[in-house]
Amino acid sequence: MARAMNDKSRLLSEEALTKYRIELLVKGTVVIGPQMLFTQDELAKIDQLQTEIPEEEVREGDAGDSHNVFVKRVRVDPPGRAPSNVSGAAPGQIMELLERKDRSFALRKILGATSDYVIRRCQTHRMPPGSFVGIHLDAASDPDFEYAVIVQLARDFEGGEFVVYPSGYEHQVFRPPFGAVLVTTCKLRHEVKPVLSGERRSLVYFCSKRSGANRRIIENSTAGV
Ligand SMILES: [Fe+2]
Repeated sequence: MARAMNDKSRLLSEEALTKYRIELLVKGTVVIGPQMLFTQDELAKIDQLQTEIPEEEVREGDAGDSHNVFVKRVRVDPPGRAPSNVSGAAPGQIMELLERKDRSFALRKILGATSDYVIRRCQTHRMPPGSFVGIHLDAASDPDFEYAVIVQLARDFEGGEFVVYPSGYEHQVFRPPFGAVLVTTCKLRHEVKPVLSGERRSLVYFCSKRSGANRRIIENSTAGV
C-alpha cells in the first residue's frame, strides 16, 4: 500500500494536476489515466465492498429521461434533504476511501477549487448488453452538482461510450479504460451509449461546494438515476 501511495503522489505532480485542470476548464471533460487517482488495490476494494450493497434497476432519470441501468446507492441526495450515506458498513467504507486526503487534494486541484468539495451523491452503475443512459443533465438531479467523477471498474466490454454534448461545439466521445477517471462538468448534457457486449461497470460521484439540503424542486416524483 505504501508503495502504491508513493507511486500515486509521483504521478500526480503539480504539473500533471495543472494539465488536467486546464483541459477540464477548456473542454468541460477530462480523462485522468489509470493508477493516478485510484490504485489497483483501491479499485479492488471498491469492487469487493459494492457486492454488499443491494441493486435496483433504474429506467427513468431525474429529468424524465430514459435509462436502463442497474444501480447500487452509496450516498443519496434526495430533494429537500441533506445528502447522507446509505446505511450499512459498505457505503461508509466506500465514502471513506473516496474522501482520503491525498485523493481529495488532487481532485480539488483538478476542479480548481480553493475550498473543499463535498460528495453529495455516489452510486455504482452496472450495464449489461443493451443497457444505456439517455441524454441528460446531471444538474437536473441537484442544481448544486458541479462535477461528476466516474471511475471505470470494468475491463472487457464494447459500446457504452460516454458522449458529451457541449453547446456550440461538436460532441465528444470518451472510452476511458479500466481504472481511468472521467471528470465532467454537470452543466453539459451527456449520455452513455448502449453496451454491445460484456458489462460496463462504474462508480459515479457528484461533487459540490455546497453541503446543505438538495435545492432541487420536484415537479413530479421519479425514481431517478
Ligand atoms: Fe450523468
